Amino acid sequence: MNRVKIGYAQFCPEFGNRVANLAKVQKMVKDGGNADLLVFAELGVSGYDFRDREELISLAEPFDGGPTSLALIELAEEYSISLIIGYPEVSGEKVYNSCMLVTPDGKKYNYRKTHLFSRETLIFDAGDAPPPVISTPAGKIGLMICFDWVYPEIARLLTLAGAQIIAHPSNLVLQFCQKAMFARSVENGVFTITANRIGTEDRAGRSLTFTGASQVLDPKGNILAQAPDDEEHLAIIEVDLSRADDKFLTEHNHLLEGRRVDLYSGLVNL
Ligand code: ACM
Repeated sequence: MNRVKIGYAQFCPEFGNRVANLAKVQKMVKDGGNADLLVFAELGVSGYDFRDREELISLAEPFDGGPTSLALIELAEEYSISLIIGYPEVSGEKVYNSCMLVTPDGKKYNYRKTHLFSRETLIFDAGDAPPPVISTPAGKIGLMICFDWVYPEIARLLTLAGAQIIAHPSNLVLQFCQKAMFARSVENGVFTITANRIGTEDRAGRSLTFTGASQVLDPKGNILAQAPDDEEHLAIIEVDLSRADDKFLTEHNHLLEGRRVDLYSGLVNL
C-alpha cells in the first residue's frame, strides 16, 4: 500500500497573461489543501493559440531560472506538493511546447512535447528526447503532453520506464482523447491524469473551444474523477499506487511480460 493524493486543476488560462495565470495556479494549489500531486493544463501559463512564431517567442521563457519555474518551486516547497504545468519554452533558437514537473524539495524536470498538433507544427519545434519518468513523493510520474496520446508508444515507453502515474497536461479541442485514455490506462496498468483547460480563444480570425472534462483514471480504466466541460474544477483523489505495480490483467496475462517483442520489429524498423 502506498497511498497518495493526486489530481488535476482545470481552469481557463488568460492568453498572454503569465502573471494572472500563475496567480490562478497559486490559488488552486492553496485550495487543493494537502494534495501530493496536482496537474495543470498544457500551455496553462501562456494560453494556446499563438498568432505566429514571433508572438510565441515573445511569450516563451527558459526552463532554468524562468518565471514559471521560480514560482512553481516556491509553491511546491510551501505546500509540500509536486506540480506539473505546460509552458512555452525558449532554448537558444528553439521554442518548445513543454511541461515542467517541480517536486517539494525544489527539484525541477522538463519534457518537450514530441507529437505536435495541427498549427503547433508551424510554430513550435518538436521535442527530440524520450519522455521522462521521475520519482517523486507522489509516486513515479511519467510525462506526456496532449496529442502524444495518439501515439500509444509514448505511454508504453513511460510504463516500461516504471511510471505508476502518467501525467497528461492537455489543451484538447477534439472529442476523442478522454475516451482513448481508458485504453492507455488499461493496456499499461497505470493511473492517468489528463488535465485539460476550458474556455474559447478567438485569435487571428480563428476560434478554438477547449473541451474540459479533465479526468483521473485508475489502472483498470475506472473514472475516479471527471470535470465538467466548461467550468473550473479541482479534483483530488486518494489512490493506492501499488495498484499500478500489479501488471496482471488476469492470472495468466501479464501486461508487459505478455508482449511478443519478437514480432514487433516492424514497429521501429520502417
Ligand atoms: C493538442 O495536442 N493540443 C490537441
